[in-house]
Amino acid sequence: MTATTISAKGETLAFPQDFVWGAATAAYQIEGAARDGGRGPSIWDTFSHTPGRIADGHTGDVACDHYHRYADDVRMMAELGLGAYRFSVAWPRIQPSGAGPAVADGLDFYDRLVDELLAADISPYVTLYHWDLPQALEDRGGWTNRDTAYRFADFTRIVHDRLGDRVGTWMTINEPWVSSVLGYGIGIHAPGRASAAEAFRAAHHLLLAHGLSAQVLRDAGAREIALTLNLTPVMTPGQVSDPDLVPSAEDSEAVNRIDCLINRQFLDPALRGKYPDPVLAIMERMGGVDHIRDGDLETINQPIDLLGINYYTPCVVRSEPGEPANAAYPGSEDILFSGTHAPTTAMGWAIVPTGLSQLLTRLSRDYPEVGLLVTENGAAFNDVVAGDRVHDADRTAFFEGHLRAAHAAIEAGADLRGFLVWSLMDNFEWAEGYNKRFGIVHVDFETQQRLPKDSALWYREVIRHNGLHR
Ligand code: NOJ
Repeated sequence: MTATTISAKGETLAFPQDFVWGAATAAYQIEGAARDGGRGPSIWDTFSHTPGRIADGHTGDVACDHYHRYADDVRMMAELGLGAYRFSVAWPRIQPSGAGPAVADGLDFYDRLVDELLAADISPYVTLYHWDLPQALEDRGGWTNRDTAYRFADFTRIVHDRLGDRVGTWMTINEPWVSSVLGYGIGIHAPGRASAAEAFRAAHHLLLAHGLSAQVLRDAGAREIALTLNLTPVMTPGQVSDPDLVPSAEDSEAVNRIDCLINRQFLDPALRGKYPDPVLAIMERMGGVDHIRDGDLETINQPIDLLGINYYTPCVVRSEPGEPANAAYPGSEDILFSGTHAPTTAMGWAIVPTGLSQLLTRLSRDYPEVGLLVTENGAAFNDVVAGDRVHDADRTAFFEGHLRAAHAAIEAGADLRGFLVWSLMDNFEWAEGYNKRFGIVHVDFETQQRLPKDSALWYREVIRHNGLHR
């Protein structure tokens, strides 16, 4: 028994003893200082400075100015009681053109950040790629160019050489589905290209980059290596309210096809060394499989310690003969993507906490060899500052629901090791700019003042009690 529930008054939902509680961010979303310390341009600088790409023309030039305020930010994390902080290293800060020697200032910044975290007793969890590809690499094809994966292995080595004595947990790539599909498949993210064939190539090279990077980390003695995926339970509309509902054969086929495209396209190569057949069949139709070379799947299928799970909302589909393919899911003909009656966040994403327990239970059943870590879970709401408070009861309820779901999965046997909220603070939400606030800490982007929201104060208590407690 790893977790306990004591019901009745004074209810406690306790998590396993060494459960990791933390928060996550990513470099381009918070650092700002886009031209400081010799940093080169990334695809997100180019994209955000292209008129019409980002809501209200926002860019990450200043963001939360974390590059200059990191010490105060770490103090704030300590006050919230965080045990772990997941951040990403901006590749263009380290290698401005994506290759060649490291820039001292860039490495020094992360060095200071790591020391500050350790001094505050917060474990640094490092993501190596959270979407800010050096523009110079994009100019040579970006992730559609196989060489980018090898450049990433070099970058991994440089960062590990500098931080590896103090950082134990490493995440190679964050959400390759989003990078490949939104970036190269439909172009609503950087670099803004729109081709299904390119998306599949990019996805494969991102996976290859993961495998090569994991090898580098393993050889260098890293303690924990992870891959972080946006994993999405796929269900029929009926299953949103009744997960036990058995769908028709046609609906099951629709669910399986989308599950292969969004989840198993990444899970299976990384953890089983093969692509699911339906994915290969769709790739064949969308420009071929020439980008998959002999030995690639062995490289991708490195032993890893943790699977990082970013969970926000399920994907709801059903069979609908004649429906054209959804551009984000090439090969999804005859499938209807549907809404739900569940309440939604400011992103319009349905709030379905049971999706998290389903996902965790399924992962621990299908991929039992790997430990699980929720690397992101959170919600954007239209927060209102009232004096010196933000009463974001909707966000607290969101987290409470998802923690209950996580706890249920642990009780059912899932090897869940920790939970990191997205995000520590409001930040640059990619195509949505600063308009969508995911933080547990409010940021006033005029003054850069930080204000912990009620959800942050609530989370501090969760951490203190190692669970939910009333
Ligand atoms: C996942 C991404 O990793 C993160 O960068 C993003 O802000 C959140 N989803 C919310 O959309």
